[in-house]
Amino acid sequence: MNEKLQKLKQEVLDNLAIIKDFYVLKDYEVRIMGRKGELAEILKDLPSLPEEEKKSVGKLANDIKVELTAKFEELKNALSKKKSEGFFDATLPGEKISRGHLHPITIIQNDLEDFFTSLGFMVLDGPELESDYFNFEALNIPKHHPARDMQDTFYIDMKNQAGEYDMVMRTHTSPVQVRAMQKYGAPLKSIMPGKCFRSEATDVRHEHTFYQLEGLMIGEDINLSNMTGILEATAKHLYGKETKVRLRPKFFPFVEPGVNGEVTCFICRGQGCKLCKNTGWLEIFGAGMTHPNVLRSGGIDPEKYQGFAFGFGLDRLVMIKYGIEDIRLFNSGDLRFLNQF
Ligand code: FA5
Repeated sequence: MNEKLQKLKQEVLDNLAIIKDFYVLKDYEVRIMGRKGELAEILKDLPSLPEEEKKSVGKLANDIKVELTAKFEELKNALSKKKSEGFFDATLPGEKISRGHLHPITIIQNDLEDFFTSLGFMVLDGPELESDYFNFEALNIPKHHPARDMQDTFYIDMKNQAGEYDMVMRTHTSPVQVRAMQKYGAPLKSIMPGKCFRSEATDVRHEHTFYQLEGLMIGEDINLSNMTGILEATAKHLYGKETKVRLRPKFFPFVEPGVNGEVTCFICRGQGCKLCKNTGWLEIFGAGMTHPNVLRSGGIDPEKYQGFAFGFGLDRLVMIKYGIEDIRLFNSGDLRFLNQF
């Protein structure tokens, strides 16, 4: 029996030297040291031994048991530490990942898209890299006409077959008016939001890249009252029911007559304050009755159909709505600014 015990001890020590897994070790411990384990199996005949032998074998068995128990504990401690180092507890609350959110301009654009679609307008898109034709000529702004100076333009460094630069980064969303007329004909109700570009010296109110939201309504018997009604409803939707709209004459080559649209300042309600520079009014759009030449460019008969168009500067709408003082913050990528929305 002594021999069997020594053999078992050596075998266990050898195995403990190579076991590297905590759970394998625990199974092995039960197999050796458990109530029905290999050690107990060897000792099961102990009671039947002669008294003298029983004593010495009992002592040896106890020494071995104490030694192996200590070895098992030591290795269990080492392996459980390792186990907890690489342990993943799926029940712990996760690390909070901060979520992105919509840009303030996108928030107002989405809001206006919902508003105009509820009035039956389509939402259309057009190319940001635009031809000189759609950006200017089709809008009644011929080549070399002084009206081109109203919009500082980025021309693309690429000549056509006639040796002219004829591609531009669109300076406004108005070219989509003509594209829409050519595609859908009359009657037509649509808005066209999108990015525009101008070669501006930037300041708090001017960016080289900004957003506009264009609108167009073409039909029979459309007049200036229809236009005023739609724009008044838009202003009230944006700035509250009490808001009034004021139209003042302004020249745009693609409309006749043309107007600049102002709304009562929503801060001072028309009394005069810092935001409206004490005028009581805030300018938010350009608009007018579509010029017959533009209807012709769109393939629509101006004798039969009339229409109106308007263009909001989206950045300005958002600045006024949230009291933002510098337009350059929109493209700054500064999270201290963006996280406020
Ligand atoms: C136009 O661009 C016309 N296409 C608007 C229009 C459409 C008139 C349909 C009539 C009928 P204007 O250049 O004024 O017009 O620009 C319209 C708005 O765009 C401005 O009121 C302003 O809010 C915004 N805007 C123009 N230039 C800049 C700029 N550099 N930075 C930021 N916003 C600008």
